[in-house]
Amino acid sequence: MPGAIYAEGLVKTFGDVRALDGVDLDVPEGTVLGMLGPNGAGKTTAVRVLTTLLQPDHGRAVVAGIDVLAHPDRVRRSIGLSGQFAAVDEYLTGRENLMMVGQLYQMRGRDAKRRAGELLERFHLSDAADRPAKTYSGGMRRRLDLAAALVVSPPVMFMDEPTTGLDPRNRQALWDVIQELVAGGTTLLLTTQYLEEADRLAHDICVVDHGKVIARGTSDQLKARTGGERVEVVVHVAEDIPVAEQVLRGFGKGEGTIDPHTRKLTVPVAGGAKLLAEVIRELDGRGVEIDDIGLRRPTLDDVFISLTGHAAEAEDENGAGGESLTGGRGAGGREKEAVK
Ligand SMILES: Nc1ncnc2c1ncn2[C@@H]1O[C@H](COP(=O)(O)OP(=O)(O)OP(=O)(O)O)[C@@H](O)[C@H]1O
Ligand SMILES: [Mg+2]
Repeated sequence: MPGAIYAEGLVKTFGDVRALDGVDLDVPEGTVLGMLGPNGAGKTTAVRVLTTLLQPDHGRAVVAGIDVLAHPDRVRRSIGLSGQFAAVDEYLTGRENLMMVGQLYQMRGRDAKRRAGELLERFHLSDAADRPAKTYSGGMRRRLDLAAALVVSPPVMFMDEPTTGLDPRNRQALWDVIQELVAGGTTLLLTTQYLEEADRLAHDICVVDHGKVIARGTSDQLKARTGGERVEVVVHVAEDIPVAEQVLRGFGKGEGTIDPHTRKLTVPVAGGAKLLAEVIRELDGRGVEIDDIGLRRPTLDDVFISLTGHAAEAEDENGAGGESLTGGRGAGGREKEAVK
């Protein structure tokens, strides 16, 4: 049985641009799909097709069990949408905007008012609740738009870059609301540029580029594809590099790298923290003094760069993959310090 959001072979072209080039999706009920992809990948186009705002050239989509092309109005009644660009009525106050949505969904006045108050508080808008939305800052509008999408809890929700432009406190508030919704059975498709967000919220992730799904899986599966975990050791003196290399080779599961400037050795491993303890013991036993040692896992950022970097550039698989593995985030700054 197809999931709560299902798409098969979606194609949408704008002139020469194939914004969607054969997209298949299947999101099981009550789960979150995180859709990642660089600017122009086709994320918003996919959301617009799935939410009936745009007709695809080819393909089929079923949302909440309803065929999107055959019964768009029925689909609209079963979904919630928060778009990439906030859609609020400028002349109404924040509270009025939210109450209006409740009324559109036939909530009783009292319930609409209570829900509006609740959401205004959660998104830290209570103080501004009775001011017209046109006086709101960009981040405040964004929050009001999200709150509007959350007035009712439809079975299927779409959020296009919901936390872009939100400060950390409000991002956290949204994550909490999303987690509650999903715990209550809502199915969510979320696009995001914040990979930490996908890591936290999404059961499954698909990476889109040039209108195609180029990878899918859980966050852990995608990370494992990018190379799995590795041990990184920084030895105290360069003379110890050869011995350390020998030790690491004994534990490694593939080619390692050595950076003589930073005295950092990296080797792919399997075995987690237990193995790390063994590496430390062995290095200690061989008299190697270490400045730093750690087990590093690739982040989703590594995955993203390796996948989309590869897709955007050339056929050279090793080139793109290797870069992101050895060039770990945050290491750059430390490297420069050490060289100096
Ligand atoms: N209405 C339109 N007319 C012409 N081209 C369009 C239209 N909508 C989208 N496109 C093109 O389709 C491609 C995909 O756009 P889309 O907005 O889906 O990307 P996106 O993944 O949401 O990007 P972003 O991360 O910047 O929001 C882009 O090349 C864009 O220029
Ligand atoms: Mg977009």
